[in-house]
Amino acid sequence: MRIQKILKQQEVEREVKVQGWIRTRRDTGTFSFLEVNDGSCLANLQVIADQNLANYDLEVRKLGAGCSVEIRGKLQESPAKGQEVELASEEITVLGWADPETYPLQKKRHSLEFLRSMSHLRPRTNALGAVTRVRSHLSFAVHRFFQERGFAQIHTPIITTSDCEGAGEMFQVSATGEKSPFFGRPAGLTVSGQLQAEVYAQALGQVYTFGPTFRAENSNTSRHLAEFWMIEPEVAFCDLACNMELATDMLKFLLRDVLTACADDLALFDKFIEKGLLKKLHAVIDNDFVHIPYTRAVEELSAVSGEFEYPVKWGIDLQSEHERYLTEVIYKCPVIVTDYPASIKPFYMRLSEDEKTVAAMDILVPGIGEIVGGSQREERYDVLVQRMTEAGIDTSEYDWYLDLRRYGSVPHSGFGLGFERLVQFVTGMANIREVIPFPRTPGYAPC
Ligand code: 4AD
Ligand code: MG
Repeated sequence: MRIQKILKQQEVEREVKVQGWIRTRRDTGTFSFLEVNDGSCLANLQVIADQNLANYDLEVRKLGAGCSVEIRGKLQESPAKGQEVELASEEITVLGWADPETYPLQKKRHSLEFLRSMSHLRPRTNALGAVTRVRSHLSFAVHRFFQERGFAQIHTPIITTSDCEGAGEMFQVSATGEKSPFFGRPAGLTVSGQLQAEVYAQALGQVYTFGPTFRAENSNTSRHLAEFWMIEPEVAFCDLACNMELATDMLKFLLRDVLTACADDLALFDKFIEKGLLKKLHAVIDNDFVHIPYTRAVEELSAVSGEFEYPVKWGIDLQSEHERYLTEVIYKCPVIVTDYPASIKPFYMRLSEDEKTVAAMDILVPGIGEIVGGSQREERYDVLVQRMTEAGIDTSEYDWYLDLRRYGSVPHSGFGLGFERLVQFVTGMANIREVIPFPRTPGYAPC
């Protein structure tokens, strides 16, 4: 039986079998306390191992952190503080030993940096186990949010021949020893499923894709990965306002959901990782997001220009320091910045009447900066062709994308939510490498 269920049901007198890993052992004169964790929840189960157990001296007294065990016994009320029930063991089978001389995870708290050097063992720690449960829960909640609203999930390709963001940050894909391109033309790992999601939005109306994306950008920051997961809804007959509403609803839904479902894990983060985390999350749910056009954001930031490494002026792409200043210092809440200069945004964003800006929106949150990037898409054939040409894109390679504007084109919008940035925001983890099981960054992909 899983420990989470045992602790929830608290059925005293019940016979159970538990399997897990020892966290600690403490001996008294006549018996030992074992703390066992099976990963189902943050809490350990306290096990009483009496000296009358057949293997007490030979094995039980040698158990230490990391050993795997199977335990049969009866649940009983715990006389001590700290837990309601404990397990009076009747049989303890050691499944796997862990040499205390070499097992790296000892009882003391290890730094997250140290744990990062062993992505194969770190999920056994409280913090990384909790991150993993929260991440899994959020992933499920993402699907629930869209499925409940009638969105169809589209499995967009991982190997693609189009560079959605036009930033040239693709990893190339080729077959080992290939003589001519396997796909007949250069292909790469996707940077975004958006263009293909647009195809399906213009047939099914409301779709989303949630998959891995890859960027060969050489940025070693606490918010960038070379492989990350992105949630990308795409909605037909939807303008920028409707897009912002969907993103806001989704973020609030996900936070509300995870606060109830993962209360214990979040309490751990609130205590040890980011003090005030729960308050921050509740504030996001309870308050409106600020909406400001890029031009206004630049004015606000220019007024405090001395604060920044990169000077602010109209036309620049906002740097992380600017984004964070807006959301952390000026507004102290999530901020949606809209109407960015066309010159710094990709070809697919809809050109506004001023012909200088596009119908874009980024959502910035405290501690992270940009968490969502989205836009209304250019649905006018001629304007799109012009924007692509200006961007130096060979339009003949995007004939399929242009066809969507030739045949029954409709206004449509979408956005991308970086899943790891969401998990960072929810757990308070300062470094994005803590919130994905096996991070990939420049120079780093150990297994
Ligand atoms: O702003 P981005 O580049 O937008 C797109 O890719 C659009 N095609 C999305 C769309 O409209 N369907 O990326 C979207 C989000 C960012 O806001 C950020 O949260 C995350 O993806 N992101 C990254 N997360 C981790 N590591 C990276 N290197 C990331 N690059 C972007
Ligand atoms: Mg962006």
